[in-house]
Amino acid sequence: MAGAHRAISRRIRSSGPADKRATPGAESEPIRVLVTGAAGQIAYSLLFSIAKGDVFGKEQPVVLLLLDITPMLPVLDGVVMELQDCALPLLREVVSTDKEDVAFKDLDVAILVGSMPRRDGMERKDLLKANVAIFKSQGAALEKYAKKTVKVLVVGNPANTNCLIAAKSAPSIPKENFSCLTRLDHNRARSQVAMRCGVPATQVKNVIIWGNHSSTQYPDVHHCLVNMAGGELGCFEAVKDDAWLKGDFIATVQQRGAAVIKARKLSSAMSAAKAICDHMRDIWSGTPEGEFISMGVYSSGNSYKVAEDLIYSFPVQIKDKTWKIVDGLAINEFSKSKMDATAAELIEERDTAVAFLGV
Ligand code: NAD
Ligand code: LMR
Repeated sequence: MAGAHRAISRRIRSSGPADKRATPGAESEPIRVLVTGAAGQIAYSLLFSIAKGDVFGKEQPVVLLLLDITPMLPVLDGVVMELQDCALPLLREVVSTDKEDVAFKDLDVAILVGSMPRRDGMERKDLLKANVAIFKSQGAALEKYAKKTVKVLVVGNPANTNCLIAAKSAPSIPKENFSCLTRLDHNRARSQVAMRCGVPATQVKNVIIWGNHSSTQYPDVHHCLVNMAGGELGCFEAVKDDAWLKGDFIATVQQRGAAVIKARKLSSAMSAAKAICDHMRDIWSGTPEGEFISMGVYSSGNSYKVAEDLIYSFPVQIKDKTWKIVDGLAINEFSKSKMDATAAELIEERDTAVAFLGV
């Protein structure tokens, strides 16, 4: 774990104050944003977007805290140099470190990526024992050092269960502040429907990913709307191929991560970084009126009879930095059985993790 290694903290001041011509008037206080696994693939695609204002807004200065394990610090130095060389007005400071007490101090946002990715032929839950201890340790670091208002996004796989363990390890931070990334699956589903209908992905809304970020996830289009032919059509009416929507479409989204690994010999990074930006931007600024997005959130008190005490992906709407599960959507038998199957897998993962860690 990062905190257990020789401690090296490098504090490198980046660009100066934001360009006053672009941000007239009083300046906002910088927010402190942590990215773990900062020397890895996803971070390399992610950091530029955060630093240039795509996530927290064009007027919000940021301090970036970059955590990785000790052997990766020389690589991290290169990433910091590149961030400096981008000469970005919103980036106030970059701190690269292998120490949790430095990385987690006074955080506003924590994006927990750092962990091992799977290889071809593995399921994401095969990473459980390799990765879950990282999230116990980082949950404890959040508890000890971060602001109680910190928004935590868990990306490292198996993302739902790692997120649950991080939340359980930070008892004084509200459970609602924790979420895990299923936005990549959401974007994949949206894009598959859009390509099938011959429209841009922006004309498809309200797909839902239910459950686990795994091959049991359930991509549901029963409430999805497609803007085409001069109006808004239900997805089944727009696609006109029920067999595809109930078969190959679901399998394609469920297996997309594995397909990318098979082709690239590396797991998704560019699309994962884009999904992280979408997820965190929506937490920060809210979801558009009439739209919902998918994210893994605490299941307790949900109206869909999903078991309690899981991080389960639901349709949510976000306002004032607070998510709310979209209630009252009709669920048919086909959907119910798939929602139950993915919940059963999450219960098994949770019980394995809890027994393994003794939490
Ligand atoms: P990567 O191997 O390129 O980078 C991971 C980085 O994490 C490495 O630099 C490594 O040194 C670092 N790391 C390991 N242990 C750490 C610790 N304790 N503290 C801080 N840093 C640590 O991997 P990647 O492609 O960036 O993927 C990272 C994770 O994200 C994997 O678990 C992958 O499966 C997952 N992922 C999730 C989604 C999703 O949609 N939820 C999408 C893509 C990838
Ligand atoms: C993905 O969905 O692309 C990631 O979770 C990486 C993986 O292991 O599939």
